Amino acid sequence: MHRLFKAGLIGVAVIVVFELFPAVHAAQKGSENKGRYYFRQTCKECHTKGAVGGEITPLNKTMAEWRVYFAKGTHNHGKEPLAKYLPADQLLDASTFLVQHAADSPQPETCGK
Ligand code: HEC
Repeated sequence: MHRLFKAGLIGVAVIVVFELFPAVHAAQKGSENKGRYYFRQTCKECHTKGAVGGEITPLNKTMAEWRVYFAKGTHNHGKEPLAKYLPADQLLDASTFLVQHAADSPQPETCGK
């Protein structure tokens, strides 16, 4: 009985490690270059000067602000999910691009178009 309990605990620990680690890892990993492409292709359609969403570049927010924005995941004053415009994997790339080139990042970028 005692042994079984121990084995069970180890089993749970193994599952936790294997389930959580890739998730945590994936949450930090996105392709900056792909993200730049998706952002230009999709988001910029509405986010240039004079367009419906107004100009948006990585410089609009700080790294922390972009992280919060994508963690929240809503768009246009919270009216709709950001996922409406990009599937999850591409959204992750876009967020990586925006965070890496935010106003207070080591390499701020305007992503002009
Ligand atoms: C179909 C047009 C359209 C597309 C595509 C679009 N947006 Fe927007 N976005 C808007 C509009 C409209 C607003 C609200 C602008 C305002 O009120 O000044 C907005 C607002 C925003 C804001 C300001 C905060 C907020 O959400 O209210 C951010 C940041 C933003 N968009 C990022 C993005 C990103 C990132 C993408 C691509 C994944 C994207 N947008 C794609 C139209 C669009």
